[in-house]
Amino acid sequence: MLNWDEVFAARTRSGVGDGLIEILKLAEVAELISFAGGFPDPETFPREALLQGLEELVESGDPSPFQYSPTAGLEGPREFIASRLEAKEGRRPEPAELLVTSGAVEAMELLARSLVDPGDLVLVEAPTYLGAIMAFRGFQAELEGIPMDERGLRTDQLEILLRRRRPKLLYTIPDFQNPTGATLSLQRRTALVELARRHGVLVVEDVAYRELRFEGESPPSLWSLAPDVVLQIGTFSKTFLPGVRLGWAAGAAPLVAQLTVAKQNTDQCAGALGQCLLEWYGRSGRMDEQVVRSRDLYRRRRDLLATSLRDQLPSRCRWTLPQGGFFLWLVVEGEVDTTALATRAQARSLAYVPGSVFYVDGRGRREMRLAYSRVEDGLIEEGSRRLGSLVREALNEPA
Ligand SMILES: Cc1ncc(COP(=O)(O)O)c(C=O)c1O
Repeated sequence: MLNWDEVFAARTRSGVGDGLIEILKLAEVAELISFAGGFPDPETFPREALLQGLEELVESGDPSPFQYSPTAGLEGPREFIASRLEAKEGRRPEPAELLVTSGAVEAMELLARSLVDPGDLVLVEAPTYLGAIMAFRGFQAELEGIPMDERGLRTDQLEILLRRRRPKLLYTIPDFQNPTGATLSLQRRTALVELARRHGVLVVEDVAYRELRFEGESPPSLWSLAPDVVLQIGTFSKTFLPGVRLGWAAGAAPLVAQLTVAKQNTDQCAGALGQCLLEWYGRSGRMDEQVVRSRDLYRRRRDLLATSLRDQLPSRCRWTLPQGGFFLWLVVEGEVDTTALATRAQARSLAYVPGSVFYVDGRGRREMRLAYSRVEDGLIEEGSRRLGSLVREALNEPA
C-alpha cells in the first residue's frame, strides 16, 4: 500500500479545500433549486451558430483549428481579442502584452506559478473568489484579505497595510465582484492605481463579469488606467461558453512573457478549436448580440430574486443589489452559522454557498452567496421561500 501523504507534494497540504469541486457536483443534483454555482444559463449558449461555425472551419481546409497552437495563442484570435479590448477599454495591448489562456482560472495558476514563492504575501478582497484563494494557496502564498464595502475594496485599509507590508500582488475583481456583487467606485480605482504605483505593487484585475452590466456606465478598467502596474485577466466563459475554457491576460510585456513560459510548462497552448470558434463567433457580431440578451436575462433574474427576498426573508437579513454579474451577497444579522445551515438547506433541495469559503481566515459565518444566473425564473420565488423559512427557524423567529 502506498502512503499517499508521502507521495503528494508538500504544497498540497496547504489547507486548500475542495470547495469548488463540491459546488460543481451540486450542479448535477436533480430537483435542487441551486443558488450555488456561478454558472451561465445554458440559454445563452449559441448552439446553432456553433454548428455553422464548426462547419465553416472544417470546410475551409485550414488545419490550424485542429493543430497545436503557439503558446501565446493563434494570430487571428489574438487579433480579435486585442481589437475587442481596444473597442471596450480604449486601450489595445501590443502583441507582447497579450496571452490567450485556458480560462481565467489558468491565468491565476500561471501567475501563482510565476510570482509566488512559499510564504509570499498575496492580498485579496475579503471576501473573494474561491478559485483565486485556491490558486494562490496552491503555491503556498500567505493570503490576507482587505475589507470591502458597497463601493468595493477599501483603499484606505489597503493603504494602511501597504505602510507595513510589501505584498507580491493584489488580486481584485472590480466589477460585480464574485461573491459580493460590489463594483469598485471610480474614485477608489484612481486611488488604487496611485497606491500601486507609489508602493510598487502589481495589481491583478479580474474582469470576469465586466461586460454583464445591467444599468449605468462602466467606470474605466484598472488596466486601462495604469497598464504599467495592472495585469488584466478576463474570460470568455460568460460571453461565449465555459466549455471552450478561454480567457486572456493583458499587461506589461515582461510579466506576460513570464506567464507564457509558465504556460509552456502546463498545457503549452489553449485549445485551437475553441480559439477559432471564438474568433468566428466574435467577428460575426453574434457575441455582441448575445451579450445584450444575456444582460436582459440576468437583470430579470436579479430583479426577481431581489423582489422575492424582500417578500420572503426576515427583517434581520440584508443583501446587496448588484448592477451586473451573477451574484448577490446576503448577511444575516443574528446568530446563525450559514455553513451548518447549508446542510439543512440541501435536505430541502436548496443550495447556496456559505460565506466562510470566500474568506481567507474563516470569517463570514453569517453570510452567504446567492447566484441567480442559472435559476429558472419560475423557481426563484420558491427558492427564496425555502431560504426564508430556513433562516427564520435558525433565528427562532415565527414562520
Ligand atoms: C471572478 C472569477 N474569475 C474567474 C472565473 C473563472 O473563469 P474561467 O471559466 O475563465 O476559468 C470565475 C468563474 O466563476 C469568476 O467568478
